[in-house]
Amino acid sequence: MKVIRKAKQMQREMKNLKCQGKKIGFIPTMGALHEGHLSLIRKARLETEIVVVSIFVNPTQFGKGEDYKEYPREFKSDKKKCEMAGVDYIFYPEVEEMYPKPYYTYVEVEKLQEPLCGKFRPGHFRGVATIVIKLFNIVMPDIAYFGFKDYQQYVIIKQMVKDLNIPVKIKGVPIVREKDGLAMSSRNKYLTPEERKEATLLYKSLLKARELIKKGERNPSRIKNEIKKILLSGKIINSEKIDYISIVDPVTLEELKKVDRECIIALAVRIGKARLIDNIRVKC
Ligand code: PAJ
Repeated sequence: MKVIRKAKQMQREMKNLKCQGKKIGFIPTMGALHEGHLSLIRKARLETEIVVVSIFVNPTQFGKGEDYKEYPREFKSDKKKCEMAGVDYIFYPEVEEMYPKPYYTYVEVEKLQEPLCGKFRPGHFRGVATIVIKLFNIVMPDIAYFGFKDYQQYVIIKQMVKDLNIPVKIKGVPIVREKDGLAMSSRNKYLTPEERKEATLLYKSLLKARELIKKGERNPSRIKNEIKKILLSGKIINSEKIDYISIVDPVTLEELKKVDRECIIALAVRIGKARLIDNIRVKC
């Protein structure tokens, strides 16, 4: 496994492999790798000849007052995990390598960046789209893997690739959860034991919502109220901590007025120092 820190060198290596006809699979990450990341890596390992992981805590996707400084940085153990998972290359650039000064160019995916997390994290998806297109231009992958955990991000990247004719296939991968249902996230590290327990309410509420829809409930407000009831049933989460509970179309991310087709139920809740997101896809 090679660790590369410079964009130019990465491009040289990737071009070489492409000339040899090798298929490149790519998993962009911010590190602090867990089983969620590893499931993307394993899928790439099965489907492509060369597996590339990037580890870069991208400053442009963090807002003021967000956790850019605190975000866990664990390169040594990440490197071991990648090695064990059969990764061929880690791209691990410095901030100055990705954003040399002066830096002026950003990518925005209009409309899709507005709802859900977009409302609460202005500029976040602009930062994500920008770093992902830069990484695509550096790694030049055939297939790139994204988790449904960050569902809006997945939809935005898919749209960007289509709109800008980027020659890469985007594949979505199911959410990996802890035994008690909490979606794995590098940010779960911020939770105290008490908060960690309460965090299980997110998935519990989503399961309840799915059950209601399966039983025939079609009114989104009633479903959202049930979710809210469950979220508020513990000791820590109060109404102000819930950023949103939404039931949206899986492609347009538009809020459904009636739950009469496949949908994504998504929510974001702040618990202690963490902002947790989760979602579930429901067919009715
Ligand atoms: P990060 O949060 O490190 O996530 C990297 C990838 O792992 C994303 O595609 C994310 O959806 C996926 N992932 C995280 N937790 C998961 C889980 N529990 N199950 C399945 N997949 C999971 O997302 C980012 O980094 C950044 O925004 C990035 C795309 C790297 C751009 O900076």
